[in-house]
Amino acid sequence: EKGGFATFMDKEIAEQPAAVADTLRGHFDGTRIVLDEQRLGEDELRTIDKVFVVACGSAYHSGLVAKYAIEHWTRLPVEVELASEFRYRDPVLDRDTLVVAVSQSGETADTLEAVRHARRQRARVLAVCNTNGSQIPRESDAVVYTHAGPEVGVASTKAFLAQITANYLVGLALAQARGTKYADEVARDFQALSEIPRAVEQTLELLEPVRELGRSIADSKAVLFLGRHVGFPVALEGALKLKELAYMHAEGFAAGELKHGPIALVEEGLPVVVVTPSPKSMPLLHSKLLSNIREVQARGARTIVIGEEGDDTIAPFADFLIELPRVPALLQPLVSTIPLQVLAAEIARTRGYDIDKPRNLAKSVTVE
Ligand code: M6R
Repeated sequence: EKGGFATFMDKEIAEQPAAVADTLRGHFDGTRIVLDEQRLGEDELRTIDKVFVVACGSAYHSGLVAKYAIEHWTRLPVEVELASEFRYRDPVLDRDTLVVAVSQSGETADTLEAVRHARRQRARVLAVCNTNGSQIPRESDAVVYTHAGPEVGVASTKAFLAQITANYLVGLALAQARGTKYADEVARDFQALSEIPRAVEQTLELLEPVRELGRSIADSKAVLFLGRHVGFPVALEGALKLKELAYMHAEGFAAGELKHGPIALVEEGLPVVVVTPSPKSMPLLHSKLLSNIREVQARGARTIVIGEEGDDTIAPFADFLIELPRVPALLQPLVSTIPLQVLAAEIARTRGYDIDKPRNLAKSVTVE
């Protein structure tokens, strides 16, 4: 049932091109984005004036990624909140608030309770879920299913990529309802998303050196992950993968925060993974990250840089360079997360851990 792979996680990493493609399938009719169970009319979507994304763990990171796209596309304020915090702080919700609840299992207790709280406050709830008929979509006003297929490995991989994809579909649906994007722009963005499975396939072919790297840093005490913009949640996701699989201390930071504290952690030989944006589409951010890479390298860090193919500016500062195919800036997490999944899996494997069933964790967390 692992289809020739050593673990479910390896299989699920390899299934990511299909997870993205299948999640997109059927959601564009040639002119418009269509959601699945749309009990929320376009006129209701049009009156939305604020969006919350509530979720836990990797699903929360998928929301952090999508915030950049949804705000950019819709000009709506988007807050991304840990489901376990949401209902305890009396968030400002009303009929014109859209709460997007993201959950692979659809059974996560914290997220379900956040949904119930939102509905009691009359907010509209849209579920992004991978499991048909599970509780969260049942209690929501609309649903976008991620079609990642069953995910057995406790660490989320293909479901995470599918969640980002589905969150983007929600962003496009909102933009078309609000008229902040013309139909041809929506079509173009959908087309760009449709090209991602190919980029994911290409990325998967580049990963043998990442596995070797994983083996060579498996005895590190800690790893730091840095990113900016959409690369920041990718850094958080990379650190989460490493914590849960390799039981290694790992932290993700917004690279701009380095000087505000975390740089004190950098010491000789510490692996620091840096997710860099495209120098062409995000030149300013790229140059800021370049400075961050230099700062940590000057303090002895072993820099592991994820960059775009053909970017020669970072090569001199990368002790290890992972070059990924060029994709639109907002879509980069759909490729840049993959080496981080593989790195964490390989470190865990080298340390002798069960990467499908990490200690102390359950696939679905049904208690608060
Ligand atoms: O089923 P859900 O998407 O609601 O689960 C949320 C988190 O428990 C989940 O993403 C968890 O963080 C993963 N193990 C991370 O790899």
